Amino acid sequence: MFPRWRPLVVPFARWHAGRAHVRPVAGVPLVVLPGVFDPELTKVGAWLAGVMAETVRPGERWLELGTGSGLVACAMARAGARVTATDLDPAAVRNARLNAAILGLPVEVREGDLFAAVADELRGDSAVAGSVTVVAPEASPRGAAGVWRPYSAVVANLPFWPGPTRDLPLGHAFSAGDDFVLLRRFAAEFPAYAPRALTVLSEAFAAFPQARAALGPHARLLRRSRFRGEWLDLFELTAADR
Ligand SMILES: C[S@@+](CC[C@H](N)C(=O)[O-])C[C@H]1O[C@@H](n2cnc3c(N)ncnc32)[C@H](O)[C@@H]1O
Repeated sequence: MFPRWRPLVVPFARWHAGRAHVRPVAGVPLVVLPGVFDPELTKVGAWLAGVMAETVRPGERWLELGTGSGLVACAMARAGARVTATDLDPAAVRNARLNAAILGLPVEVREGDLFAAVADELRGDSAVAGSVTVVAPEASPRGAAGVWRPYSAVVANLPFWPGPTRDLPLGHAFSAGDDFVLLRRFAAEFPAYAPRALTVLSEAFAAFPQARAALGPHARLLRRSRFRGEWLDLFELTAADR
């Protein structure tokens, strides 16, 4: 689909990404700063925020990777979850912190590559920006095998376009890297942090089957919805399957 539309899509995306957007998305009043992924642009983030607000339980401790504007993290925090959000992009980190502050939500936002920003939590304590967070016992779910993990669950709307997209506006928000390495790393690394992980893929993308395969054979389709003309799939991975 994309090559045919590229001459139209790329200039539009560049124009769109250069602007700030202020509007409710999935019921959350949201500021999207210039240069940060707009969850209304591809619709996936907007759908995921609505789904996650219904999915989380109060008191659960969730980790969101690749938070962008912070929409999904804020939607989960509004539903009562305790949320840590990360992003590789400093502009996204600033944007997510801004939205959490405007909404008065206690979302902790950290900068880093996938799980690197929370790797210190594997020790059960963390020292971030001068503050020390002691992980409470109730935030330390133990699975059947008695394995300690710092989070109840992980969620991500990670880039799932194949290959590098460096020439595209906001390319880092779209590129899953060669052979979908970002999705493969997500699937391989989450079990140290949480017993389950959720991620979303759009069936509208030509490379959907390869992106789906990158999640591995144990990824289970948890939810499939037609959202604004697109089929969106939420996949669940569990540490027990690894
Ligand atoms: C498709 S956007 C989704 C943003 C947001 N979660 C939403 O649904 O609107 C992907 C986000 O992942 C971030 N990202 C890309 N590679 C990353 C990595 N290796 N580690 C952490 N975040 C990454 C991008 O900066 C971008 O904000």
